Amino acid sequence: MTKKITIAIDGFSSTGKSTIAKQLAKELSYIYVDTGAMYRAVTLYAMQHGYISENHFNSEDLVADLPNISLSFTFNEKLGFAEMFLNGTNVEKEIRSIEVSKLVSKVAEVSEIRKKLVREQQEMGKNKGIVMDGRDIGTVVFPNAELKLFMTASADKRATRRYKELIDRGDKVNYEEILQNVQERDRIDSTREDSPLVMADDAIEFDNSDMGLKEQFERIMSLVNARIQ
Ligand code: DC
Repeated sequence: MTKKITIAIDGFSSTGKSTIAKQLAKELSYIYVDTGAMYRAVTLYAMQHGYISENHFNSEDLVADLPNISLSFTFNEKLGFAEMFLNGTNVEKEIRSIEVSKLVSKVAEVSEIRKKLVREQQEMGKNKGIVMDGRDIGTVVFPNAELKLFMTASADKRATRRYKELIDRGDKVNYEEILQNVQERDRIDSTREDSPLVMADDAIEFDNSDMGLKEQFERIMSLVNARIQ
């Protein structure tokens, strides 16, 4: 008999957290939750309602409007993962745009927003059997997770991955802009006051700059197997 555990995956942006998390969830028949998608969906809502743009952020009005923001995930059989819905609308594509990427770190600094999302994340994982990725999963959301991974890779490798992803889906972007965004988000995410991106004391660091997906998956699965037996 294997037991169900909680797998927390944290790390800098574009370290391939979600790719590996999706694979693990599939292999283990666990739920997968991309918490970055939730911060992105709140950012999209803030953009749509004029609370945030490149040169202004009315966080007070956004916080007052939080009760009207409903986030949910719906599994898409064809894609093999759950897509993000904002107030009933599928926003999976919009939340990945460079515009959202540029503003999301500012939204993620607001404590009231973090509180709401952390509460929802803890609810989703209350029965274990979950793989969750983000920045504060092993430190704040599930400090008792049985397996905590902290993914790292060089900024250049990460920007190259993100650039390819956006080009593949038809976006017009330039590499320099992506690299700057990756570096700027790293800076804001790791220096913010509330739940900064730090490695949990009991997390296992995983540098995948020069590691293929297959090798990563096998290594992580052996860590999982040691914990579920
Ligand atoms: O993982 P991502 O790049 O999609 O995340 C988008 C942003 O959301 C990221 O810059 C930081 C923030 N975030 C966070 O603060 N806490 C999380 N648990 C997940 C994401």
